[in-house]
Amino acid sequence: MDSKLVFSGVQPTGNLHLGNYLGAVKRFVELQDADTMCIYCLVDLHAITNWQDPKELRRNTIEVTAAFLACGLRQENSIIFNQSQVSTHTELAWIFNCVARIGWLNRMTQFKEKAGKNRENASLGLYCYPTLMAADILAYHATHVPVGEDQKQHLELTRDIAMKFNNDFKTPGFFPIPEPIIEGTATRIMSLRDGTKKMSKSEASEMSRINLTDDSDSIRKKIQKAKTDPFEIPSVKEELVNRPEAENLLGIYATLANQSIEKTLEQFSGSDFKKLKDELSDILISELDPINKEIKKLLNEETYIVEILRMGSEEADHISRPILQKTREIVGFLK
Ligand code: TYM
Repeated sequence: MDSKLVFSGVQPTGNLHLGNYLGAVKRFVELQDADTMCIYCLVDLHAITNWQDPKELRRNTIEVTAAFLACGLRQENSIIFNQSQVSTHTELAWIFNCVARIGWLNRMTQFKEKAGKNRENASLGLYCYPTLMAADILAYHATHVPVGEDQKQHLELTRDIAMKFNNDFKTPGFFPIPEPIIEGTATRIMSLRDGTKKMSKSEASEMSRINLTDDSDSIRKKIQKAKTDPFEIPSVKEELVNRPEAENLLGIYATLANQSIEKTLEQFSGSDFKKLKDELSDILISELDPINKEIKKLLNEETYIVEILRMGSEEADHISRPILQKTREIVGFLK
């Protein structure tokens, strides 16, 4: 094992979609297989920053864990757990609420997007969401955080919190400054209905995203109906400027085929979207069909999944508890 420690989280707020898979979970599996200590968390405390039906939250936590396992995460190689079972996160988050500045949180674009026009009515949890995220990462002294592009600003805030804490308490290096891992061709997968918008669980139309639980027929249908433009596929990358839908579909294909955009353009240059859509559907189905089948199988084994989360939570507590204890001493709390 190397000295890297990887941490990342996913909200259990519904099915995982292709953006979550290519931008995050597939990378989680690669890192796990690179002999690095990896901790992956179902962030149910983050999920309730918007009201969740309790039965659905429970169901989604089980489903997203099943998806993690179906994508290839293994309990033997990674710690897989749900955030609310490990209280070190919330304790550390409170300390970070007192380190982070209101001005820093006021700059968070995701809060602005999620709160929308009715900001006064957003939960306080949604506002201080990023300090809990910093606690998730720093409670383990994690050094690397694989995420999609949309989490970049939250990672920068985490780094600022770690630096300010180390400075304020004169404990240089106590919290490591974590590195985001935002790499590859799939850091921002876009909606199939609008190539300028991120693929997201919160978009109303199911046609805008491919879910890991979609069967082959729905995948084919969604790709066939995906928005395109009237031009043919170009031969060079520069010609994809102002063609967000073409760029997105080609990017998804390139990622799944494990090849560059240039190579993908060479393959499809001069053809119409039908060819691209047919081949994209095929490659998506061959990647996602085994995952889909495995999720279905695992959903019949709820007790097994609950037990994985329980054991993972114990391990997570075991690692983060001494770090929290040390933080408490640094801050000046009595034992
Ligand atoms: P969440 O649950 O929204 O998304 C989970 C992961 O999927 C990535 N992602 C995407 N990547 C590419 N294209 C997309 N369209 C796309 N949509 C989502 C996200 O970037 C993320 O990596 N705040 C986080 C969860 C979190 C966390 C953490 C992450 C809580 N604590 C600590 C890392 C470390 C979130 O809401 O992710």
